[in-house]
Amino acid sequence: MTVSTDPASAPLFSHVSEAAPDAILGLTEAFLKDERSDKMNLSVGVYKDAQGVTPVMRCVKEAEKRLVDSETTKGYLSIDGMPDYRHHVRDLVFGDRIPSENIAILQTPGGTGAVRVAADFLASQFQPMRMFLPTPTWANHNSILTAAGLTCENYRHLSADKRSFDLEGMLEDLQSKTKPGDAILLHACCHNPSGVDPNQEQWEQIAKAIATAKLLPLVDFAYQGFGDGLEEDAVGLHHILRENPEALVCTSFSKNFGLYSERVGAVSLVATDADAAKASLSQLKRVVRSNYSNPPRHGGAVVATVLDDADLTSMWKEELTEMRTRIHRLRQLFVDGMKSTSPDHDFSFLLEQKGMFSFSGLTPMQVDELKSKHGIYIVGSGRINVAGMSEERMDWLCKAVAQVLHS
Ligand code: LMR
Repeated sequence: MTVSTDPASAPLFSHVSEAAPDAILGLTEAFLKDERSDKMNLSVGVYKDAQGVTPVMRCVKEAEKRLVDSETTKGYLSIDGMPDYRHHVRDLVFGDRIPSENIAILQTPGGTGAVRVAADFLASQFQPMRMFLPTPTWANHNSILTAAGLTCENYRHLSADKRSFDLEGMLEDLQSKTKPGDAILLHACCHNPSGVDPNQEQWEQIAKAIATAKLLPLVDFAYQGFGDGLEEDAVGLHHILRENPEALVCTSFSKNFGLYSERVGAVSLVATDADAAKASLSQLKRVVRSNYSNPPRHGGAVVATVLDDADLTSMWKEELTEMRTRIHRLRQLFVDGMKSTSPDHDFSFLLEQKGMFSFSGLTPMQVDELKSKHGIYIVGSGRINVAGMSEERMDWLCKAVAQVLHS
């Protein structure tokens, strides 16, 4: 919020009012300050291993060793990042489904950076533009898109019981609320915060409905490989691209390479022809130049080093499979644990959900009580980061959740 002040009434900063803590990262700040020793952070979406650590993947360590020996410069990258990195993004995300000259790709600081670049580009080219977001969606989407100057509207994603996908509601909203030229944000897989994804047939219908309504898809694809597999998780995106000749796709290597703090992402613009892609790239570059100028090198260099090398690539795929399998196991253990501690509450719907997150169905009051009484931090909406759970402390966690459910 801005304040209008008399310039004579300095100091200016004493007129600034304090903002509310961030709905997700603010919880980690509070968690770190919490002095209890038996606390647990299930708020922010980071993967933890059996030791409770967010590990540096083995393929990343190996790539970093190679980079220490081979890197010759820390000079600036170009505005759109490293060519080699961008080729790998194209292969992973699009395969050979779209002619490469029709895609403009830029390396960005994380998936968040990608969404912001996409939003700034849209706002600079197509004002006024409305963006339709799923209800619910990632807590930061609205802030990023609004900050860029887009107008946010909503469409239904979850059914009333918050456990399944509301295809009918979504299609109805697209038909009744949107007009040609509006944009629509979609989660390609592992919907954040609910873990509830459309199935293949539903994706087909969604893709057709978007084409009929003449909407521009903005696909947030931050969790490739965390749902069912690298290819499997791209199925929804490929349906969208089959029916819709234009799209923006935001990707991230934070999760599937564990490169959270290196900020490695990309924004890809799919155009109908090479000229449109080229002109759009030039505008995307202007957006970047007036923001962070050019992307950081290290994370992108790590990803490119791994994906340039067949052995490191198979090591990466194995490690990704290990993470995905472990998350499935944690889901199962939690569901089993809740069955024995609280038989009247059925959590088996968690087994249908994909990726790191699940909607627990806990109310804001129960979420508060989990934090105050037990030191367990989850997002206010009831979103739990399953990937942050621990086998060893599952019993303790389930007892705490059961206690809150019954209090
Ligand atoms: C999350 O949803 O927890 C992650 O995407 C991290 C973030 O930046 O919010």
